[in-house]
Amino acid sequence: MQWLVCGESQVPQGQQWLTGAEAARASTMRFSKRRTEYLLRRYAGKCAVAAAVGHASDPVSLGRIAVLNRMTGAPYVEVDGRALGLDISLTDRAGWSVCLVGPDLGAVGVDLEIVELRSDGFVRDFLTAAERDIVATAPGSDGPDAAANLIWSAKESALKVLRTGLRADTRTVEVVLEDPSGIGAGAGDWQRLHVVSGAGRFPGWWRRDGVFLLTVVAATGLAEPPHVLPGSADLSQAEPIHSWVNQPLVE
Ligand SMILES: CC(C)(COP(=O)(O)OP(=O)(O)OC[C@H]1O[C@@H](n2cnc3c(N)ncnc32)[C@H](O)[C@@H]1OP(=O)(O)O)[C@@H](O)C(=O)NCCC(=O)NCCS
Repeated sequence: MQWLVCGESQVPQGQQWLTGAEAARASTMRFSKRRTEYLLRRYAGKCAVAAAVGHASDPVSLGRIAVLNRMTGAPYVEVDGRALGLDISLTDRAGWSVCLVGPDLGAVGVDLEIVELRSDGFVRDFLTAAERDIVATAPGSDGPDAAANLIWSAKESALKVLRTGLRADTRTVEVVLEDPSGIGAGAGDWQRLHVVSGAGRFPGWWRRDGVFLLTVVAATGLAEPPHVLPGSADLSQAEPIHSWVNQPLVE
């Protein structure tokens, strides 16, 4: 399993790198945030697939890679209209997108968050009792917020594995961190977690790079953390970007 990070500034101008269906879908999105994030996730997905299979990454070649969605919203990929046996998961936050990719991974989920304020109400309403304890005892000055966002991210990754997304009650999946003491550190190393749900126990990994928190969860496997793909941006150097704020509507 491999991962790749892309930033908003890397997304090409023009539409050559998109399939006709992707360009048509993007053109229906009137809000800059929605359209920018959709395009950023497409670009990260295509670059990750290209890097994983040794496909060229110029705009015309990327236009042969389609990043599509099932009825559930879960993504899948085709190259020249054919499935390559690759599974992907996509996420974006604050101008940065991550794609997880690999052959026959089955159900996987990735989710990117930033350390931001989470209210007592958020923690009370969306986290389980055991997760609330992790938040309450998290070390470091931003430990409680980091823990709340990390747990939230792992829940979203698990809900992507389950294909329900936030249609499900977030308390039906419980996040267990193997070593919560690393939360405040920003060490940039992968650390183990798992998620317990009615459907079983899902293995996962998490890492903190600066203000970014990244989680990966899978239905099975994941004995090792994902390997970074060549050409990936460095999340530890990434600054959160909120470009849509200055222009909320697409012109
Ligand atoms: C899955 C979900 C929690 C992710 O939301 P988010 O954290 O705001 O956004 P992220 O950037 O982390 O992830 C978005 C990506 O998650 C993936 N995704 C969406 N729904 C998914 C699902 N049910 N299962 C797995 N992955 C899903 C998609 O690849 C999506 O990007 P894309 O639409 O550009 O392909 C959220 O989309 C959700 O709860 N959806 C509910 C289901 C829904 O309404 N689906 C739409 C049906 S068309």
